[in-house]
Amino acid sequence: MDNNRVYVFDTTLRDGEQVPGCQLTTVEKIEVAKELEALGVDIIEAGFPISSPGDFQSVVEISKAVSEPVICALTRANTKDIDAAAEALRFAKRKRIHTGIGASDMHIKYKFNSTREEILKRGADAVKYARQFVDDVEFYAEDAGRADNEFLARMVEAVIAAGATVVNIPDTNGYCLPDQYGAKIKYLMDHVSNIDKAIISVHCHNDLGLATANTIAGIMNGARQVECTINGIGERAGNTSLEEVAMILKTHHSLGLHTNINSKHIYGISTLVSTMMRMPVQPNKAIVGRNAFAHSSGIHQDGVLKHRENYEILNPEDVGIATNSIILTARSGRHALKHHLERLGYKLDKINLDEVYQRFLEMADQKKEISDADLQQLMGDGDEKN
Ligand code: KIV
Ligand code: ZN
Repeated sequence: MDNNRVYVFDTTLRDGEQVPGCQLTTVEKIEVAKELEALGVDIIEAGFPISSPGDFQSVVEISKAVSEPVICALTRANTKDIDAAAEALRFAKRKRIHTGIGASDMHIKYKFNSTREEILKRGADAVKYARQFVDDVEFYAEDAGRADNEFLARMVEAVIAAGATVVNIPDTNGYCLPDQYGAKIKYLMDHVSNIDKAIISVHCHNDLGLATANTIAGIMNGARQVECTINGIGERAGNTSLEEVAMILKTHHSLGLHTNINSKHIYGISTLVSTMMRMPVQPNKAIVGRNAFAHSSGIHQDGVLKHRENYEILNPEDVGIATNSIILTARSGRHALKHHLERLGYKLDKINLDEVYQRFLEMADQKKEISDADLQQLMGDGDEKN
């Protein structure tokens, strides 16, 4: 096994689709699944089959439509859920059942009214049961972020012994700080005797805005699967965003870690998911937001025009965005104005530029943004055009 390979598990169609208002039809889910395949994700979590007939059918149809990634179905730790998942996955070329149970004392007491020992047994039993149907079983230790590390290590060891191939350590409530989450993964790597028989997976939520940072901390401490969604959509404040993790690993290549993601597909699938799910992407969202490659202050515009990398650590083309943008506002300088005027075919000498720039500033003070039409109006008829 290549220890530097990070597997990407996309849960846009399960954790992402749980968001109110984001529900998709089966046909729409198939379209997203095909794009996820083209993007190069390793595992697609296609749904939670027991939850509704529609979700069941979506897992069936995605299994037929997509062949390269592993198709995964979610269950709770009970036989009825697992039976439904196995049935829904029957057409999948490569399949995985994702089963699990709460690991924190909070969940054990208040969600299951149970004890640590009973929960440990239920988790291991569920894995054993699922292994009758598939060779690939992932176990999730829900609310692992708040679980006691010693107990969590016992749970991880027990489910690996029962046959789990991947063990997911979710920070279900987005509670952890990056160093706490990283230390949790390290603790498991150091204390679980059979850890070499499974892959540790990180699944982080963004309640404190730390999902991506926690995911990276997990990877740096030994996790080799990341669970994420396109645009970071998901329960409450969302999940780790796939595009952020992929571009962090690509940008920091000195880490020596790599994924199978074809980053040029990122912007396309981001737009598809946002449109289909009626979930706009915030303009300042890293990687895919409208402003992610837009420069508006005069100092930055001048710097970017001199050399793109003065203010860009990523190349927009690498994520499927044709070009960066220099937005003309009252904060823009002469260099940006000249750049846009030349693009429109106007040639200006220094004196002309100073004069036009003064008129530009007067216009820009009245508007948020200056468009090409505004520039043409500003130039009138008198200036030389190529
Ligand atoms: O956040 C979580 O704990 C989950 C599990 C069901 C994997 O989504
Ligand atoms: Zn989740």
